[in-house]
Amino acid sequence: MSNKIDAIGLLTGGGDAPGLNAVIRAVVRTAVGHFEWDVVGFYDGYAGLIEKRSRKLEMDDVSGLLTRGGTILGTSNKANPFAWHLGEGESRQTVDRSQETVSAIRSMGLDALVCIGGDGTLSIAHGLHEMGVPVVGIPKTIDNDLCENDRTFGFDTAVATATEALDRIHTTAESHHRVMVVEVMGRNAGWLALESGIAGGGDIILIPEIPYSLDAICEKIMWRNRSGRHFSIVVVAEGAMPEGGEKVVARVVEDSPDPVRLGGIGNAVAHAIEERLDLETRVTVLGHLLRGGTPTAFDRILASRFGSEAVHLLARGQSGRMVRLAGADITSVGIDRVANRQRLVPPDHPLIRMARETGVCFGDGEC
Ligand code: F6P
Repeated sequence: MSNKIDAIGLLTGGGDAPGLNAVIRAVVRTAVGHFEWDVVGFYDGYAGLIEKRSRKLEMDDVSGLLTRGGTILGTSNKANPFAWHLGEGESRQTVDRSQETVSAIRSMGLDALVCIGGDGTLSIAHGLHEMGVPVVGIPKTIDNDLCENDRTFGFDTAVATATEALDRIHTTAESHHRVMVVEVMGRNAGWLALESGIAGGGDIILIPEIPYSLDAICEKIMWRNRSGRHFSIVVVAEGAMPEGGEKVVARVVEDSPDPVRLGGIGNAVAHAIEERLDLETRVTVLGHLLRGGTPTAFDRILASRFGSEAVHLLARGQSGRMVRLAGADITSVGIDRVANRQRLVPPDHPLIRMARETGVCFGDGEC
């Protein structure tokens, strides 16, 4: 494929996140409006690419998108050209359709592909780049767990939504003298639980990176009661687990690259607290609520900067890269450094240290 760009493809893959439409808008405005390229949007992530379901995106198509949640292109966290699932049950098989995918990109006259997504989407993008497709990745996930990047878009909105929920939970917890357990998303990384837990005044924050002990949790709750605070807020990431225990699996999605879906740890923790302490406990699972809605101003700006920089990278003849936020700057990094890696919360992270010093218990020996 040549260095000169006339047309690019665009897709959104993996779970949706607030700000996806703002990225699409920025890519189209920069590519079509500024560079006068054509932009073809594929429906439902890599599924649209393989099944040749797409539409040309014009300036009018992205009008009003800055504030809109979800993705106008649709997304999928199942479609993978390198491991495409065919058939059901006994006759089910997995085939490699990557060569066909590369041919489709060429036959459509596309000079490059912009892939917006998380770890799975960007790992596939890396694979396509290795096969000669000029690709630029844009990091997205409300979990904020992509390596080589300080902030994914969508995370700030999810933190704001969870914080508002915690503020509301606080007042009812206090009125009823209850323990309120709030489960948030965060499969392997606890960034969302950590930041919303701090912002929402959580007393106990449980994250996947720090296995918890029920003794420590109950001791903290009883200490609060003895100090005259007859309610407690426990924020728990869906991937949190007890010392020596396992994550709670809600379902297995067979044809997904990462088939395990978590959920249920909030109920498990609440049940265990009620069994041990004579305190009424309630659970709220925020789940997919955290992925929806209007992006915050921060996410709209980050999404716009990412989308614009992705197009500029291609215009400068650079590909095989992911745009990223490094401090206050938008730069880029080789997509190979991001694929199949995860950015977890270091247990000695300054936020954890500060939270501990201001009285937050992480369910371990240091409460
Ligand atoms: O990638 C973000 C994420 O929100 C995870 O925290 C969560 O485990 C997963 O997506 C849920 O995905 P699904 O849409 O398949 O339920």
